[in-house]
Amino acid sequence: MAFCRLRTHQWCFILFNVVLFHILLFGADLVEEYFLQSLPATYTDVKILELRERARKLDMVPFKSNVSKSYTISSSEVCADQETFLLTIIASSPGNRTRRDLIRQTWANLTDIRGYGVLTVFALGKPASEATQLEITEESQKHKDIIEGIFFDSPENHTLKTLMAVQWTVTFCSNARFILKTNEEMFVNIPSLVEYLLILRTHPEDIYIGKVVRQETPDRELESQGFVPVSQYPEKYYPDYCSAAAFVISQDAARKVYVASAEVPSAVPPGAFVGICAQRAGIMPIHSSRFSGKKHIRYNRCCYKFIFTSSKMSDDQLVREWKEISESKDCTLLETYYGLVSCRVMTYLDKFKNLNMDTIKNEALHFAD
Ligand SMILES: *[C@@H]1O[C@H](CO)[C@@H](O)[C@H](O)[C@H]1NC(C)=O
Ligand SMILES: *[C@@H]1O[C@H](CO)[C@@H](O)[C@H](O)[C@H]1NC(C)=O
Ligand SMILES: *[C@@H]1O[C@H](CO)[C@@H](O)[C@H](O)[C@H]1NC(C)=O
Ligand SMILES: *[C@@H]1O[C@H](CO)[C@@H](O)[C@H](O)[C@H]1NC(C)=O
Repeated sequence: MAFCRLRTHQWCFILFNVVLFHILLFGADLVEEYFLQSLPATYTDVKILELRERARKLDMVPFKSNVSKSYTISSSEVCADQETFLLTIIASSPGNRTRRDLIRQTWANLTDIRGYGVLTVFALGKPASEATQLEITEESQKHKDIIEGIFFDSPENHTLKTLMAVQWTVTFCSNARFILKTNEEMFVNIPSLVEYLLILRTHPEDIYIGKVVRQETPDRELESQGFVPVSQYPEKYYPDYCSAAAFVISQDAARKVYVASAEVPSAVPPGAFVGICAQRAGIMPIHSSRFSGKKHIRYNRCCYKFIFTSSKMSDDQLVREWKEISESKDCTLLETYYGLVSCRVMTYLDKFKNLNMDTIKNEALHFAD
């Protein structure tokens, strides 16, 4: 009853709060997306023009005759005889067969979305042991979805793996319209991503979409694993780039990135590496808040039906949540909306929880000292 008797200014106050809540929740993303729209650019820089011309003329045929020099397992035929709209390349570690099987059974168990072909492959480096190599060869014969490089698989060599993914695409899968590069920690909603890319299809070229990382500085800590010497990358900041957790590039952009990569040091992390290549080719990253980056998005069915990715998925979550997402009916606009609000708020709360845990841990360490 009291609710009905509110005065005009009271209603205004409530409305104001509701609006404020939504601005706080979604505003930053909307502004970000608006400003990061890449406009059709005109290139005056001779170097960029020259690089784009080289990418257009790029010929991988000579390379194809010497495949064994770059790949332990090349799976060169996987892409050959089909029209692929979206090729997904998942960086995986050699010993993680169980995880690959889980991904094959869940979000990657799709061959087409509304008639548009989708294809998934795993990118591996060489394992340390011969036994693991035998298992991988066997797995590859069974599933025909493994690309294995000739470099040793390690976190430091992740950039080489990303480069291999790009090279493999332009060599053996040049008919794929879009390429999604991601890793085995992720959940990817392929159907919603394909729907989104179908709208973009009219966009001419140079597509490079993901969660954009801005003003990142190279790691200059001598002892750290990702140390980047000034001699390798002298600049203070990396150019804006899409988080390596998951990003999408169009085939033409992949060719340009590949051509540019010859002059970019592989000592920089994979995301920044692709960003530097893209910049040299005159390609701007486009931000979409539906990519999670390295963050885990708290599960909500209608939210997960809308977003593109979520990271740090445990095996259980992957199976349970995929089952629910794929078996349930579509969400209405209102349900999607509340799903997004809910998973947004919960993910924020998780962030604070983690922060607090970190502070507590730090203080405990301090205390122990
Ligand atoms: C393939 O590799 C062999 C041996 O290294 C080399 O002699 C040959 O020129 C290469 N072929 C092509 C097409 O690159
Ligand atoms: C993929 O899904 C189909 C049904 O949509 C199912 O029959 C098949 O067993 C699944 N494949 C795997 C590897 O789980
Ligand atoms: C990266 O791969 C190369 C080639 O196999 C290898 O020589 C190097 O040791 C690897 N780096 C690391 C840090 O594992
Ligand atoms: C396998 O992948 C999962 C998910 O990314 C990860 O948590 C786990 O540590 C990996 N295991 C190995 C042996 O690499």
